[in-house]
Amino acid sequence: MQLPRYIAHRGLSAHAPENTLAAIQAAADAGCEWVELDVQCLGDGTPVIWHDASVDRCSDSQGKLLNMTRDQIGQLDVGSWFSPAFRGERMALLDEALSLVSALEMGLNLELKINTGHDPAALARTAVQRARQVLPLDRLLVSSFDMTALEAARSQDEALALGLLYEAVPRHWASDAERLRPTSVHADWTQLDQERLIEIQSAGLVMLCYTANDPERFASWWDHGVDGVFTDDPGLFDARYQRRTR
Ligand code: G3P
Ligand code: MG
Repeated sequence: MQLPRYIAHRGLSAHAPENTLAAIQAAADAGCEWVELDVQCLGDGTPVIWHDASVDRCSDSQGKLLNMTRDQIGQLDVGSWFSPAFRGERMALLDEALSLVSALEMGLNLELKINTGHDPAALARTAVQRARQVLPLDRLLVSSFDMTALEAARSQDEALALGLLYEAVPRHWASDAERLRPTSVHADWTQLDQERLIEIQSAGLVMLCYTANDPERFASWWDHGVDGVFTDDPGLFDARYQRRTR
């Protein structure tokens, strides 16, 4: 799997409301090859692209996702909180996001986001099945902080590329890797240490860091060999990734 140096975090979230179709489109318009999106299920089981456990921060309403149905989320404005230019943006269903990523010929890092009360295995089964129907194996990387979700994803599809997601990489990362056979390890770059980076890359795995938005502070990690970053704005790192208005 060929992973790029920059993955647009939650879509191009510096320039469009995070985890929306508009953010995926903005990433494509800026020349990004891959996006990272968070997926979780509503109370009625519908998988949607969303980060938080509630809609409070990124919509014009309030409430927990687990108490909502597909009809209810269809009423929310998830764009105005970011900018009036995105008024009327709707929460993206997983299926809509997959179709758009596919149509744009992008790659997707789908993060299985397990907030409190959500069922990791059920989310993994639903999300992996739908994603595999739409995207080829070389353009899909499924990651999670939740090892139960990753185990369910691995049992569902032996060939699926997985990413182990950590804040600080723990000492036991290698036993997770032995069990789950990942392609990559993803860690908070502010908690990364060089020894772990060397171990991970020596094991043949790709090292990705989140969420890097300060190229100057991040620069030494390129020298240490980090393979790629999740960033809200790849244009901060490389002028070729400039958002183009449509
Ligand atoms: O997948 C990398 C990054 O998205 C993990 O953190 O909280 O932004 O989903 P978060
Ligand atoms: Mg994420």
